[in-house]
Amino acid sequence: MTTLFAPDRQGSDSNKWRRYDSDVLPLWVADMDFAADPQITHSIRARLDHGVLGYGRATPQQRDVLVRAMARDFGWTIDPEWLVFLPGVEPGFNMALSAFTPHDGAVMQELPVYAPLRAAPSHWGLRQHGVWQVQAGGDHWISDTNAMERAAKDSDALLLCNPQNPTGRVYTRSELENRAELCLRHNMVVISDEIHCGMVLDGRKHIPIASLSSQIAARSVTLMAASKTWNVPGLKTAFAIVPDAGLRARFEAARHGMVDSVNILGLTGMCAAYDLCTEWRDTIRITLQANRDLLARRLAVLVPGARLVLPQAGFLAWIDFSALRLPCPAAEFFLTHARVALSGGTEFGSGLEGWARLNYGCTPKLLEQALKRIAAAVHMHMGEPD
Ligand SMILES: Cc1ncc(COP(=O)(O)O)c(C=O)c1O
Repeated sequence: MTTLFAPDRQGSDSNKWRRYDSDVLPLWVADMDFAADPQITHSIRARLDHGVLGYGRATPQQRDVLVRAMARDFGWTIDPEWLVFLPGVEPGFNMALSAFTPHDGAVMQELPVYAPLRAAPSHWGLRQHGVWQVQAGGDHWISDTNAMERAAKDSDALLLCNPQNPTGRVYTRSELENRAELCLRHNMVVISDEIHCGMVLDGRKHIPIASLSSQIAARSVTLMAASKTWNVPGLKTAFAIVPDAGLRARFEAARHGMVDSVNILGLTGMCAAYDLCTEWRDTIRITLQANRDLLARRLAVLVPGARLVLPQAGFLAWIDFSALRLPCPAAEFFLTHARVALSGGTEFGSGLEGWARLNYGCTPKLLEQALKRIAAAVHMHMGEPD
């Protein structure tokens, strides 16, 4: 098994580690503390050794790497021409909204959701129909089908996030089939952000919604990247899969002179990840699963008032601290009193001051240290001894 290496990031150019004072443990933004697979860094070094760093264009071999990866990982047969290369998934879902929704149109999305996805409709003057996910039986999330039906009646697009950020939910085949059916019946385009799809846990399988049928594929834009799974988000490289030629042309046109082509080193690193680094990916899945279980176990003991629905994918945990009746939003409380930086609940949906998102893509030692600090701050607030 590959060994993961977590170098010291203090004082580096990391956004995660620079944003707060050096005594703060950063468990906020979605990158992990592990060094990339050496096969990725070697491939970038080899590319640099060529010496000429002109504008890039993906080669047929690089397109084939992604075609093979979709078949290998999801049993999804795609055509190399369907691929559109992008400097990020976030520009991708914004381009898709601008390309496929009419002025004063509406977008349906499930909440809570990753802040830039939640904000995206407003960038294009679109109305947002949010459907709240609720906990079902305490151990997973569901969305009300009647609310989805109502939202779909007046929506031009479904902005999906699967696996979901922040809940860590991995949609089942039947949940995806329901959403695809809704899109087809109400003539909605589905814009599916699947950036976390390489890190599904507990032996689950990720299903790209566009792989369900040729009908839904023809109304879809799927966005993926190596950035989360292989921890290379700073390479700022992603891709869209747009099977329909007409939609693809409109999508490309929506670059509007603002969304540039891809960085050549990012393209090289991304292709190395998909082509060569499946063992590293298997290791990160095992590591994240162990970290998630450690988090669940220790949180239950150290902060019994906090509620966590076990994430089914990735390295982000969505935690409800509202029963603790903290005197201010949870993330603010823990930053001030525990010196631990989490992402605040209200980034993901309004009225969620009592919630916070915790990034466990770090060493178990750092996670344990952060949890102990969080517990001490809670005990202090409750007036209990540590
Ligand atoms: C669901 C989701 N989509 C998109 C992004 C950002 O992707 P990119 O850096 O490729 O724009 C993130 C980063 O956290 C994310 O969690």
